[in-house]
Amino acid sequence: MENSITMIDNRTGKKYDFPIMYGTYPTYGAAIRAADLRQIKVSEDDFGLLSYDVGFLNTASCQSAITFIDGEKGILRYRGYPIEELATKASYHEVAYLLLHGELPKADQLKEWTQKINYHALIHENMKKFMDGFLYDAHPMGILVSTVAALSTLYPQARNINDANVRKLQMYRLIAKMPTIAAFAYRHSIGMPYVYPDTELSYTGNFLYMMFRRMEIKYQPNPVLERALDVLFILHADHEQNCSANAMRSVGSSLPDPYVSIAAAAAALYGPLHGGANEQVLRMLREIGNINNVPAYIKRAKSGELRLMGFGHRVYKNYDPRAKILKKMAEEVFEVTGKNELLDLALELERIALEDDYFIKRKLYPNVDFYSGIIYQAMNFPVTMFPVLFAIPRTVGWLAQWEEMMNDPEQKIARPRQVYTGADCRSFVPLEERE
Ligand code: ACO
Repeated sequence: MENSITMIDNRTGKKYDFPIMYGTYPTYGAAIRAADLRQIKVSEDDFGLLSYDVGFLNTASCQSAITFIDGEKGILRYRGYPIEELATKASYHEVAYLLLHGELPKADQLKEWTQKINYHALIHENMKKFMDGFLYDAHPMGILVSTVAALSTLYPQARNINDANVRKLQMYRLIAKMPTIAAFAYRHSIGMPYVYPDTELSYTGNFLYMMFRRMEIKYQPNPVLERALDVLFILHADHEQNCSANAMRSVGSSLPDPYVSIAAAAAALYGPLHGGANEQVLRMLREIGNINNVPAYIKRAKSGELRLMGFGHRVYKNYDPRAKILKKMAEEVFEVTGKNELLDLALELERIALEDDYFIKRKLYPNVDFYSGIIYQAMNFPVTMFPVLFAIPRTVGWLAQWEEMMNDPEQKIARPRQVYTGADCRSFVPLEERE
């Protein structure tokens, strides 16, 4: 059989042929179906062989046409378009449309898309009261996760997820309301009144407005910072089957409404190894404090005492292409905001780490979080908002992954297996007889 693989079970001497499936590229992402392995048995009552893959290091959980990453070469494409082109030529709205629909919008489609998102930007006043209930120092990511989950109670019809039009309406709502919830969470934490959306502004311009407006009659976002945020949103919009996308698909596979699935995905993003990493980068740079302390800090990372936050990636074993774009953009932002001494520290850390054998051998390069935190800080976002700033644009990626899953005829509830290592069957011992 051509395009197949032959396996021999040395326990039985039996030979098995399994077909190889391919995606777009014959030498990237070829796979066998794990379920085929179940044919491999030592006896009739043998359950069959499983593949063991903690953390899904080598498991394809779906077929997807949304995002392509070649981590060895440092390539990232949305729907076939290189991230570098999208980051320089497109707006976030165009990219969001592209991720969900598979094609770039024409002018009238973009206009309609923008109108729809603007229309849904307000949140129900009850949600405002719900957010008021959080303590003043509640982490905004905790507020975001809870409030998005709470949206589920406002839209009971959203449970009808087999209707494509119902799904679409919830997508508009989620993409539109995330910035509003995020900005309200921030304003709540600093005791400032909430600012309602201004739909005459762009998606990111309006977000800056809801975040930072004080007493201005007409708040005008700085165009360089507005565009920088747009680029940051484009770079964070999707990243194929990462931890939070996997959470979206996994929770979504039991068919709840998308609000609770998005809340689960955002919760997955919250962790320091995923979306919380840029917050940790900043804390790390502050802890290092001075360029002279960089070598000692790197030594601690090499001894295994700590990890260099913003370094390394499960998929990229090369410079993260998003980090390259951000490194350049940081300079443009600092022209507006003034120089930030943390950037010099970051550059020095990067320089020393990239020359060090430990990092070279393990292919540890800066990831997107290494520079995003410094830029966000320069733009006046507090560190607690960093994962929130990730969750806003990633919402469209989660929704694209969810929509693709919903249309996949192979879709099944996610239910991994395990290799059981516990006790064999034993009899219950009554309490008084236990030693
Ligand atoms: N600093 C120092 N050493 C590291 C780092 C790091 N940041 N990352 C990995 N290593 C080392 C590990 O100690 C390990 O060394 P060993 O082989 O001697 O034991 C080796 O590199 C491989 O590490 P793994 O943990 O197996 O790599 P994995 O692919 O599972 O982890 C991860 C990827 C979680 C991103 C990791 O590199 C890390 O913790 N980085 C820091 C956190 C971070 O920046 N996360 C953001 C990721 S990007 C995003 O979510 C958008």
